[in-house]
Amino acid sequence: MGKRIVWITGASSGIGQALARRMAADGWTVAASARSVDALNALAAEPTAGSIHPYALDVTDHAACRTTATAIEHDLGAIDTVVLAAGLHIPTDAKAFDVSEIRTLVEINLMGVVHCVDAVLPALIDRRAGRLAIVASVAGYRGLPTAAGYGATKAALINFAEALKFDLDHQGIITQVVCPGFVRTPLTDRNPFPMPFLMDVEDAAERLYRGLQGTGFEITFPRRFALILKFLGILPDRLYFWLMHKGTGM
Ligand SMILES: NC(=O)c1ccc[n+]([C@@H]2O[C@H](COP(=O)([O-])OP(=O)(O)OC[C@H]3O[C@@H](n4cnc5c(N)ncnc54)[C@H](OP(=O)(O)O)[C@@H]3O)[C@@H](O)[C@H]2O)c1
Repeated sequence: MGKRIVWITGASSGIGQALARRMAADGWTVAASARSVDALNALAAEPTAGSIHPYALDVTDHAACRTTATAIEHDLGAIDTVVLAAGLHIPTDAKAFDVSEIRTLVEINLMGVVHCVDAVLPALIDRRAGRLAIVASVAGYRGLPTAAGYGATKAALINFAEALKFDLDHQGIITQVVCPGFVRTPLTDRNPFPMPFLMDVEDAAERLYRGLQGTGFEITFPRRFALILKFLGILPDRLYFWLMHKGTGM
């Protein structure tokens, strides 16, 4: 197989970074983007890093997303796979409701993905090839305690990916949504509660990479946790809220 090129956003940390390492180790040329240039440079300089190329990018900057996609294709070649993992978690507390926090979540988690999709779609459609993987979360399945803002962005991403898939299927582009459960990263290190089925980031990257080699729409891990949440998600509302109150104590 020839040189394969992947663009990973959110590659300075956590799942995106672990995926960058995993894919580079398997021979991919990785365009790694995030705001933390030092972290990206350190990743690219790791002795076992393989071909990882840093691109400083704030995904809230629409024009910069377009410029970055163009620069990647100019420097490295046609992008085969895009994994949009840049994201942020801020808990929502109804008693200290803060619009600016929710706006930040929407701008990074949702609009950041929209900007990057806009930046790559014309070239993918032109080539009638490519793979678009959008990192959402199991928190997008149904409302979860403290996740009004975060969960809303992730539910929006799941719906966005599902809806786009109808169009992109006809353009030869594979659309996927990634719904992780709890993965040990700086994002979850701040959680003050016990996290069920907490997974190591290398395992998560491995599962994600495996999913990227298939054509299934949803990539989810750990599987059992996602299945439990999916099952809870189809319960009648009254039962769902009762079980969640009981189970989480919230
Ligand atoms: N960890 C979990 O349990 C879990 C579960 C479900 C879903 N997820 C999702 O998985 C994705 C990765 O999360 P993680 O756990 O790996 O978190 P993380 O370790 O905190 O990494 C988040 C990444 O997003 C980047 N990022 C944040 N804001 C950005 C911005 N404005 N522009 C560009 N990059 C930005 C960060 O880089 P800079 O700060 O350097 O920009 C960092 O590379 C997120 O979308 C998250 O919602 C995680």
